[in-house]
Amino acid sequence: MEKNPNRYTITAALPYTNGPVHIGHLAGVYVPADIYARYQRLQNKDVAFICGSDEHGVPITIKAKKEGITPQQVVDKYHGIIKNSFEEFGISFDNYSRTSAEIHHKTASDFFKKLYDDGKFTEEVTEQLYDEEANQFLADRYITGTCPKCGNEEAYGDQCEKCGSSLNATDLINPKSAISGNVPVLKETKHWFLPLNEYEDFLKQWILVDHKKDWKTNVYGQCKSWIDDGLRPRAVTRDLDWGIPVPVEGADGKVLYVWFDAPIGYISSTKEWAAREGKNWEDYWKNENTKMLHFIGKDNIVFHCIIFPSMLKAEGSYILPENVPANEFLNLEGNKISTSKNWAVWLHEYLEDFPNQQDVLRYTLTANAPETKDNDFTWADFQTRNNSELVAIFGNFINRVVVLTDKYYGGVVPEPSTFSEIDKQTLNELKAYPSVIASSLERYRFREAQAEMMNLARLGNKYLADEEPWKTFKTDEERTKTVMYVALQIASALAVLSEPFLPFTSDKLKNMLNVSLSPSPSLRTGSVDGSIKWNDVSSKSELIKPGHKINKAELLFSKIEDEQVRAQLDKLEKTKMDNSTTNQETSVEEVAAITPQKETIQFDDFVKLDMRVGTILEAEKMPKADKLLVLKVDTGIDLRTIVSGIAQSFNAEEIIGKKVTVLVNLAPRKLRGVESQGMILMTEDADGKLVFMNPDTSGVENGATIN
Ligand code: 2FM
Ligand code: ZN
Repeated sequence: MEKNPNRYTITAALPYTNGPVHIGHLAGVYVPADIYARYQRLQNKDVAFICGSDEHGVPITIKAKKEGITPQQVVDKYHGIIKNSFEEFGISFDNYSRTSAEIHHKTASDFFKKLYDDGKFTEEVTEQLYDEEANQFLADRYITGTCPKCGNEEAYGDQCEKCGSSLNATDLINPKSAISGNVPVLKETKHWFLPLNEYEDFLKQWILVDHKKDWKTNVYGQCKSWIDDGLRPRAVTRDLDWGIPVPVEGADGKVLYVWFDAPIGYISSTKEWAAREGKNWEDYWKNENTKMLHFIGKDNIVFHCIIFPSMLKAEGSYILPENVPANEFLNLEGNKISTSKNWAVWLHEYLEDFPNQQDVLRYTLTANAPETKDNDFTWADFQTRNNSELVAIFGNFINRVVVLTDKYYGGVVPEPSTFSEIDKQTLNELKAYPSVIASSLERYRFREAQAEMMNLARLGNKYLADEEPWKTFKTDEERTKTVMYVALQIASALAVLSEPFLPFTSDKLKNMLNVSLSPSPSLRTGSVDGSIKWNDVSSKSELIKPGHKINKAELLFSKIEDEQVRAQLDKLEKTKMDNSTTNQETSVEEVAAITPQKETIQFDDFVKLDMRVGTILEAEKMPKADKLLVLKVDTGIDLRTIVSGIAQSFNAEEIIGKKVTVLVNLAPRKLRGVESQGMILMTEDADGKLVFMNPDTSGVENGATIN
C-alpha cells in the first residue's frame, strides 16, 4: 500500500538538452506528472514538482560536434527553448533547473565524494573501447553496435532502445565508433563502479515484495527481469571532457557518468527551489512522511528503479521513491517518434501553430496516453477530440449555462425552488466525481481520470437537454431557476475538476464563473486562497451561491479546421521526403548493404518475360498459412489465380482494386494445393515492408505490357 502523507516530491525526467521537447516526451512524462502535481495541490498537499535540463552526457557532445559549436552553446540554446515551451504549455514545475548550474555540480560532486569516502565504490582498471583516430575512449552513445539481447543493430554503448536492456559498451557485437565509424580497439583505463550486485537483496525486498502490488506491471516486469538476470557492478565515471569532474585524486580527464549525475539533478533542483521559497529541502528528500514519485518514460526505468535507488541507499540518509509510474512510448502517425529523423510534433512549434490551444494537445495526449502499451498520435484524432469532445460536449455545456444565466438573470445565480428527483439525483452524481476521478489519479490512470471528468460535462449536457430551460423559461419561471442553479453547480464543479487536465480552460471557466482569480497563466490555482478545492465538490452543499454574479461567456474551445490538420500532415510529408532524399545519398557502407547486381543477361532473355499491368479483384487469406494471400487478378488477358506471399504486409481488404505488375508467363506452380498462375512484382521499403510495383498506372489498361 502506498502511503498518503501531506508532502509530495514529484519529479519529471530531466530532458536532454540536445533538442527541443516533443509530444512523445509530453505524453510519456510531463503531462501526467503535471496532472498529478496539480491534483495534489488541489488536495491541499505540500507539493514540490521538480525538473530541469539534463545537460551532460554524450548526446550533447555529439550534437555539438555535428553543429560545429561547443557543448555549452548546445545546452544554452535548448535549455532556453525547453524551459520556455514548458512554461507556455502550463507545466507547473515548482522549479526548473539545469545540471550545468553550480549548485548541481556541487551537489553531485559531494554525493560522489560521500560514497567514495564511505567505501561504497570499487575501483577497477578495465579495457574500454577506444577510437584511435579520434584519440578518445568511446563511452555510451559514442559507440553503436548490435544488442546482444535482441539483435538490434543500432544499440548504444549504454542501452538498447529496442529491447530496453541496459548495456556496457563492451557487450555490443560489432561495435563501431559514432565519431569516425571505425572499429574501436580495447585500451585500459581506471574507473569507479557501484557494485549493484551488493544491492540485490535490498532491491528484491523493496521492489519485488514491498511494491509488487502498487507498481505498474510494465515497470515491475522490467525490474524483475533485471534482478532475475543478476545485477553487475556499474561504472559511474567516464573518460570524457564534458560533465562533472570526478572529485578525487588521480581522476584527471574523467567525469561522472551522466546517469550518475542526472538523477541527483532532482535533488539540486529541489535545493534551488527551497532556498528561493524559504523551505527546507531535506523535508522533501529525507523525511519518511514525504511521498516521492518519479515520472519517466520506459527507457529510463532501470536508472530510476535500480541504479538511483541503490545510490540513495548507499548514501544512507535519503528516502526512496514510493512509485515510478513510467509510461510506454507514443508514436506519431504510425511511426516511431525520432529526433534525428525530425519525425515529431515539437512543442515549441505546436505553440506557434496553435496559439492558446495548449489544452487541446494536453487533452489529446492524455486521452491517448501510452499508459500500458505504445500508442499512436494522429492529427485526425486530435481534430476529432477537439471538435467532437471539447467543443461539442464541454464547451457547449458551459456556453449554454453562462449565456442563459446572462440572458435570463443578468448573470446572477438564481435562487432554486423545489428540487425534482432528477435534480437530486444529478446533484448526488456530481458529488461522487471527485472521489471517482481521484481514485483513478491515485493509481496513475490518467486516461481513465480524464474520461470521468468528461463524463461530468456529459452529465451537464444531458441534464440541460432533458430539462430544457429554454422551453420552461416561457412557462415555469421557478423550474427554470432551479434547473439553471443545478447547471451552474455542475459548471463550477467542472471548473475545479478539470484543472489538472485542462488548466487554461479551468482558469477561463473560473474567471467566467467569477469563482476565483488565478495568479498567472501557468496558474497553480490549487493554492489560491478562497478558490474552490477538490473536495469541496463533494462536501459543500453548494459551490456557487444564489445572488453571486458571474461574468460574460468567453469561448473555451474553437473548432480545428481541416486546413490546419492538412498543414500539419503536409509538414510531416515534407519530413518524409527530406528523409528519403537524405537516404538516397547513400554512403559507401550503405551501398554494401544493397543486393549486388545479378549476372548480365541478353536482350533475348529479357523479352522472354511477359509482364503486364493487372488489377487485383479479390483477395483472401490462405487458410493455415501466415504469409499467403490467394488473389484473383484481372491481367487483361484473363482472370487468374495468383498465390502471393504478402499477407504479413497487407490485409486482404486493403489491396482489392490495386493496380499491380504481374509476371504472367511464369510456369504455374501449386502452393498449399492452390495453383498459382503468375507472380505479382514487389519491392521492399526502408522498413522491410513490401510495396507493390505499381508505378503511376492511371490511364493504363489491364493487359498493357511492360517493356
Ligand atoms: O532520457 C532522458 O531524456 C534523460 N535525460 C532523463 C534523465 S532523468 C533523470 F535522471 F535526470
Ligand atoms: Zn536489444
